[in-house]
Amino acid sequence: MQNLIIVGPMGAGKSTIGRLLAKELRLAFKDSDKEIEQRTGANIPWIFDVEGEQGFRDREQCVLAELCLEQGQVVATGGGAILRPENRQAMRTGGRVIYLHTSVEQQIARTARDRNRPLLRTANPGQVLRDLLEIRDPLYREIADIIIETDERPPRMVVQEILARL
Ligand code: S3P
Repeated sequence: MQNLIIVGPMGAGKSTIGRLLAKELRLAFKDSDKEIEQRTGANIPWIFDVEGEQGFRDREQCVLAELCLEQGQVVATGGGAILRPENRQAMRTGGRVIYLHTSVEQQIARTARDRNRPLLRTANPGQVLRDLLEIRDPLYREIADIIIETDERPPRMVVQEILARL
C-alpha cells in the first residue's frame, strides 16, 4: 500500500489522527518530528536553539526523504514540512497526501498549553499561527490529494472520513 502522508498546521492533530489511522489500517506509524528527535538525541526546541530553524529544516528534509521512500506507512509531518520544494516533491511521489485543514482559532486552542513548539514562544502565538497559515495554506493545498476539515470534530470522526475517502 502507498504511504499516507499527513500535512497541516500546528494543532491540526496530525500525530493523533495519523496514529489512529495507522491502527485502523494496520500500518506502521511514523512521526517525522519524533524521528528527528530520536536521531538527534535532542528535542525540537533544543535543535532550534542550537542549530537555528535552518538546521532543523535540514534535518527535517533528510528524515522526510527517507520516510517517503519507505512504503505502507502513515507519516505525520511537521507543520512546516511543506516549505521546501524538495519536501513537497518527496511527499507527492511518496504517497497520498492528506491535508488536515484547521482554523486558526482551533489551532490556538489546541496548542495553548504546549511549550514544545519553538515558533510559538512569542508574545502573540495567535498572530504567528495566522501569518503562518496565510503563507502555508496554498502549499498544503498544492500537494493535497484529500483535504479534511478537522474543526469541531473529534479525531475518530476525522479518521472515519479519511477512510471513506481513500
Ligand atoms: C513546525 C511545526 C512543528 C515542528 C516544529 C516546526 C512548523 O510540528 O515541526 O516546531 O514550522 O510549523 P507540529 O506541526 O507537529 O507541531
